[in-house]
Amino acid sequence: MGHSVAVWDQQVAMEITKDWNGIDQVTLRSPRGASTRVSLYGGQVISWRNDRGEELLFTSNKAIFKPPKAMRGGIPLCFPQFGNGGCLEQHGFARNKIWTIDDNPPPLHQSDSNGKAFVDLLLKSSEEDFKCWPHSFEFRLRVSLAANGDLNLISRIRNINGKPFSFSFAYHTYLCVSDISEVRIEGLETLDYLDNLCQRERFTEQGDAITFETEVDRVYLTSPNVIAVLDHEKKQTVVIRKDGLPDVVVWNPWEKKSKAMIDIGDDEYKQMLCVDGAAIERPITLKPGEEWTGRLELSIVPSSYCSEHLDHHFRGL
Ligand code: BG6
Repeated sequence: MGHSVAVWDQQVAMEITKDWNGIDQVTLRSPRGASTRVSLYGGQVISWRNDRGEELLFTSNKAIFKPPKAMRGGIPLCFPQFGNGGCLEQHGFARNKIWTIDDNPPPLHQSDSNGKAFVDLLLKSSEEDFKCWPHSFEFRLRVSLAANGDLNLISRIRNINGKPFSFSFAYHTYLCVSDISEVRIEGLETLDYLDNLCQRERFTEQGDAITFETEVDRVYLTSPNVIAVLDHEKKQTVVIRKDGLPDVVVWNPWEKKSKAMIDIGDDEYKQMLCVDGAAIERPITLKPGEEWTGRLELSIVPSSYCSEHLDHHFRGL
């Protein structure tokens, strides 16, 4: 089965409902009360709550829940293009497609299923996509929620074409923060980055940790597999573990750009920060029959835990 739970009652752990556009949404619950919700529109995770019911992903109050636009918040999937650097629509078409539940996905490792509630989704190339991106693919997404509330996303993209193709990818993760000026990212210091605000010019990060006092739109390159987003006011840290995703996008639109966007409130930039596990600088190339896997795990720890326990990861990876 493509949607299942290992140790607790599936009826309680997974629920399929319809949104106001009649599109299915899958809600997964952990035994302690954490939950996540994924929409079949875009395969987009649209909510992730801890066991106290607090939302951990940002959704704009002005988000437009209407195809063909991806909802502003949660975790939209950018595929097969990140940004507007190619001939496709911004961030590619995957986030604007209707996905299906995959009842019979190729198996994953047991540790990807054991003790987790999960759902497998599938997007296949369509004739419509073929006009602008003439490649046949299968994109499988597993969204799972561990008993402790950790959120895991596994993307598997397979070339079912007769010739190679290349793509870029990002889990465009909108984190909910207390106040952007109270937040810092650890794990990206000293890295090179491409600055989208300066025609993708390459710079080297100089600061000890990334903090925010103006618009930021960067792609950090060849990053460690563990990074941390510390929220001083909440005294909590989002630990981002990733695999197969060398780059990290950091984006906050700040005041001026927010005012120019119709689906975000003027001040909402203060409550959001996008930190995306991504593969952008060097697109992934798949030969016929080959498959790529990109994993993202989000967990919440108290900030005091972070500095003590994660420090060695930053240095070691
Ligand atoms: C970020 C990009 O990842 O996504 C920004 O780096 C872009 O340049 C932002 O503005 C939002 O994109 P969109 O298409 O969802 O408005």
